[in-house]
Amino acid sequence: MKIFLVGMMGSGKSTLAKMISKVLSIPYLDMDEEIEARENKTIKEIFEKNGESYFRDLESSLLKSLVKQPDSVVVATGGGIVLRPDNRELLKKETTIYLKVSPQELKKRVSTDNRPLLSNNIDNIFTIYDERINLYELFESVDITYLNEWEAVAIILQKVDYKKNLCIDSSFQKIHIEAGSLKNIPKNAIVFTSEKVDSLYGEFFTNKKLVFPNGEEVKDIVYVTKAWEYLLENNVTRKDLLCGVGGGTITDFTGFVGSTYKRGMNFIFYPTTLLGQIDAAIGGKNGIDFKKYKNVIGTINLPNEVIIDPITTLSLDDIRFREGLIEGFKISLISGGEFYTFFKDHLYDLLNRNLDTLTWFIKRSVEEKLRIVQQDFKDTGLRSYLNLGHSLGHAFEAVTGIAHGLSVGWGLYQELMYSKNKKHIDDRTLYDIISILDVLLPSSIKNIKVEKNALMNYLSNDKKMEGSNIIKLPLLKEPGEVIIKEIDYHELVNTLF
Ligand SMILES: NC(=O)c1ccc[n+]([C@@H]2O[C@H](COP(=O)([O-])OP(=O)(O)OC[C@H]3O[C@@H](n4cnc5c(N)ncnc54)[C@H](O)[C@@H]3O)[C@@H](O)[C@H]2O)c1
Repeated sequence: MKIFLVGMMGSGKSTLAKMISKVLSIPYLDMDEEIEARENKTIKEIFEKNGESYFRDLESSLLKSLVKQPDSVVVATGGGIVLRPDNRELLKKETTIYLKVSPQELKKRVSTDNRPLLSNNIDNIFTIYDERINLYELFESVDITYLNEWEAVAIILQKVDYKKNLCIDSSFQKIHIEAGSLKNIPKNAIVFTSEKVDSLYGEFFTNKKLVFPNGEEVKDIVYVTKAWEYLLENNVTRKDLLCGVGGGTITDFTGFVGSTYKRGMNFIFYPTTLLGQIDAAIGGKNGIDFKKYKNVIGTINLPNEVIIDPITTLSLDDIRFREGLIEGFKISLISGGEFYTFFKDHLYDLLNRNLDTLTWFIKRSVEEKLRIVQQDFKDTGLRSYLNLGHSLGHAFEAVTGIAHGLSVGWGLYQELMYSKNKKHIDDRTLYDIISILDVLLPSSIKNIKVEKNALMNYLSNDKKMEGSNIIKLPLLKEPGEVIIKEIDYHELVNTLF
């Protein structure tokens, strides 16, 4: 695969090309840097000593050789590459993306150093922009003015023809992994999504969409009522298709609305967070929050299909991304064997968001979650293995307000320490696991020591609903072996730190 990035100076071509090269595991080339290296002069020196047209000849000849070469590469072109018609003709036959940034923003980002065309006057950027804008606009564009780097990478990769399909072989739930599938949401579907997802990917959705607030706020009866009203007002029937596109909150919410409207209509999920793809969208639990209780109202009902586009996870912020990795790490601990080894061996590729590794990680996490859920669909026993790290994680989340996935990481760490104290896990295995968790979980969170009373209060409220002080705590003996211990939550909290 060859990708050419074009755009004004300062639009981020080099930075984004480098990131894409890591994500896709293909080489990267910066045309200006290549020309400087070949001539052993800076661009400014080439302009001063040999003139602009000499530089443009070098640029055109490099472009010609790049389009001819058969190997994959992501190329950051020079800002002026579009000036020559021959270059434009060549680029049009390739996958070329114009990185659009407003000239006001460019002015803030660019310095006049080594930019001969600016002639030491930053305001010349407006003239250059006006001269070139029509030429850039000949290409597929991504407006990155308001995007951060990872968001830009995700949208660029949605626009290139990157293909990777993996089937999940399951008779229990229909799940398909397909890079770029977000672009193929059925045109007749009604889309429920969140503000953030709409702002990033809305151009790929149908007009029949309802946009909800980000995060947990949507899992409220007020929004369920709004959704039911919308479906009724638009004469939606049970046979129409409802599509939840977003994180776990949106898929939980859409699943609940889809399961209850007219006693159940067709609905599918396009989960867009890593946590949503490997966890929330899998297994059929749908629901909303009520009063102060999370997920207390809901259904267990599978969507018709789950379509996972791993590219969407690239636009997640660091915390959301780590939350997904921690959840997957937990699944790899329950599963053990090759999945645990894979996680350990590819930890840094995962953190660097390498797409092949990420896709494989998603597939294995989904398969393992399915394996567990399939044996215990109604959540009566085995599924409680999935609560590894969650008993203390939920309490920590409630007390500190720290993101769910990171709280689970904290809970996992504390529960592993409890296992060690009780001699359920040996030191070597523990060391191996903690060394991975240390990379995933910021030490500022791992080392938080919350008030034990606050944890007790949360657990006591939680247990009141069940009328007992006993927690069924899944504990790890070793990767692949979970034991369930029934313990009093007072004892658990008192043995912490
Ligand atoms: N049903 C289940 O089995 C199950 C399992 C685990 C968790 N959950 C539920 O999942 C929810 C948490 O889901 P979550 O962690 O996905 O959080 P989330 O749905 O709140 O999403 C987090 C944020 O990321 C944004 N976002 C979504 N996709 C994005 C993307 N591709 N790029 C950038 N931003 C994006 C969202 O708009 C939101 O602001 C909780 O409500 C939890 O109860 C359900």
